[in-house]
Amino acid sequence: MENRKKVILTGDRPTGKLHIGHYVGSLRRRVELQNSGKFDDIFIMIADAQALTDNAKDPGKIRENLLNVALDYLSAGIDPAKSHILIQSMIRPLPELTAYYMNLVTVQRVRRNPTVKSEMKMRGFSEEESDNEEGTPVGFFCYPISQAADITAFDATVVPVGEDQEPMLEQTREIVRRFNGIYGETLVLPDIMLPGNKASRRLPGTDGTAKMSKSLGNCIYLSDDEETVSKAVMTMYTDPTHLKVSDPGHTDDNPVFIYLEAFAGEDNPDAKALFEEYAPDYADLNEMEEHYRRGGLGDVKVKRFLNSVLQESLSPIRKRRAEYEKDIPAVYEILREGTAYAEATAERTLNRVRKAMGIDYFG
Ligand code: TRP
Repeated sequence: MENRKKVILTGDRPTGKLHIGHYVGSLRRRVELQNSGKFDDIFIMIADAQALTDNAKDPGKIRENLLNVALDYLSAGIDPAKSHILIQSMIRPLPELTAYYMNLVTVQRVRRNPTVKSEMKMRGFSEEESDNEEGTPVGFFCYPISQAADITAFDATVVPVGEDQEPMLEQTREIVRRFNGIYGETLVLPDIMLPGNKASRRLPGTDGTAKMSKSLGNCIYLSDDEETVSKAVMTMYTDPTHLKVSDPGHTDDNPVFIYLEAFAGEDNPDAKALFEEYAPDYADLNEMEEHYRRGGLGDVKVKRFLNSVLQESLSPIRKRRAEYEKDIPAVYEILREGTAYAEATAERTLNRVRKAMGIDYFG
């Protein structure tokens, strides 16, 4: 397995539009990786089949958001000439690979998966069926195994995802080792790639709660217009103890500063230019934070700066979206091409797998 191709696979469930948390947590990095020229193949999967595992009654929602997510990708800078965007459910070898991998994983092992556990809790899928709680759909329970199929089908070497996906990668690596141990070296062992800085790993909601979520209405979407973003920023939750401008303030756990860290923090290549243009009194975010902590820097001023910083990031995304929205059939054509390429790749892996297992009966 020397001189292995370098292959990226990652994806999202199309259950809603993508927000700036997705952007700093993964999308932005994908675009960088794509443009680095260091990868032989890049696959970005719209995981509609996985989304259906807990939305069986609402396929319309998945269908609608599939297009939203595709537009979010393209407008964020995913370039179909460099990355293959694919639709999971259209890749026929995936469920077949999943079926073989299921024999290599125990029910007990899936039950221990911390992400599955917390997602079951969030969805009210209890361990036991009862009058007031729904049971767990088998398909949902097995999604870590189908995710292993997603990753291995394309011989992915690198999987850039958020921290919450760590248990999925662990599960995938176990399946790969198990498969190769039993049937001989066949599958590629993937590595996880986590977002670099802490603020980018988990952007809180605009209301200060731990996570952006559609149901809480605390998101800023990539598709929001300028006015919507500016309104969301100006009404954001900040330090509740910072009452007067002269009061000393807290910057930790303050969503306004966490967003600034993600969009104009030290490791952001545009940080210096952003400060020069929109907050010339400060050389960098550290200086601004110090002033806030000392007292004398008002929230409105900081929010205005954050608004400028966000608009600067979002405006090229908006422009690209407007272009793609003019021709939706062309977007579906991009998906069709990406999916066809991905299907051929997965087909080759499936043939390898069947051969390794000795079930390629007709040669
Ligand atoms: N589970 C991922 C999520 O909820 C989506 C996903 C499906 C995925 N298949 C994948 C991510 C393969 C990385 C690799 O966001």
